[in-house]
Amino acid sequence: MLKQLSRPVISLRNFSTSRSNKYKVTVCGASGGIGQPLSLLMKQNKLVTTLSLYDIVHTPGVATDLSHIDTNSTVCGFMGPDQMPDALDGADVVVIPAGVPRKPGMTRDDLFKTNASIVRDIAKCISTKCPKALVAIITNPVNTVVPIAAEVLKKAGVYDPKRLFGVSTLDIVRSRTFIGNSLNVDPQKVTIPVIGGHSGVTIIPVLSQSQPAYKGSQSDIEKLTVRIQDAGTEVVKAKAGAGSATLSMAYSGARFAGSLLRGLNGESGVVECSYVESCVTDATFFSTPICLGKNGQEENLGLPKMNDFEKKLLEKALPELKKNIQKGVDFANK
Ligand code: 2OP
Repeated sequence: MLKQLSRPVISLRNFSTSRSNKYKVTVCGASGGIGQPLSLLMKQNKLVTTLSLYDIVHTPGVATDLSHIDTNSTVCGFMGPDQMPDALDGADVVVIPAGVPRKPGMTRDDLFKTNASIVRDIAKCISTKCPKALVAIITNPVNTVVPIAAEVLKKAGVYDPKRLFGVSTLDIVRSRTFIGNSLNVDPQKVTIPVIGGHSGVTIIPVLSQSQPAYKGSQSDIEKLTVRIQDAGTEVVKAKAGAGSATLSMAYSGARFAGSLLRGLNGESGVVECSYVESCVTDATFFSTPICLGKNGQEENLGLPKMNDFEKKLLEKALPELKKNIQKGVDFANK
């Protein structure tokens, strides 16, 4: 049984002589497999001045541990649902990796039962404690839980589609890695849009737009496409029952949250693919390159140029994506 306190379980600060007025980031699910490395990476982000860690267990330990790191931010730990409002209060950016991960043989959709209500409850709390926050959802199934959060925020009268994001960054990170390795170039120098959603056939890597160009036969392109679509399952199988991707997901979540912060901080030209409310296709949520700024989404850059193979991938993805979205809308409105 968790002991629930009405105050933060811990609030620790590394003192420093100079301090700029930057941002509060709340990680919901901070003690988990993704949450801990993600929080570590956020502790290293210079734009973060308050790092608020929320989870149902272990946050005192995680917060104390991270608070010893000599970067210029305060770490606060909050444990249990009673403390969720304090954790979220006034956050500028909320990153949500909370929930259960996949085991071998499970799809992301199999997580729906548990994770849908976790995201719903966090979204409810966001609607009162930080309705203007930029919210980045990592929890699976992303395709479905992002629409749930949107419905909850709508019901509370605070929904701003420009501020709600599903994190699909790991699909881009993996694509860059696989392409970089195959071309023998630094993956950091590869750019490629990955559009659609974040599961199976809904993940559409637009390999024809890779820079530098991906040089492979049509059969190589098809194999690489499937590898990118199934890369999460590759990790689930390799972990053999110990969960799904945590470290690469934490890296990707931190990169996305870092981009949200750079946009908030007034940097121009920050672009990330993200799963957002969209009218680019007839799926009401869809990932495309998004220009980020002070209010979250500044501009949806729309579909990249696609060849016939990629257009077929899109055709195959849309019915699945629409089904995933409807499931979320139905859940939120039942
Ligand atoms: C993945 O793609 C966990 O959804 C995550 O591996």
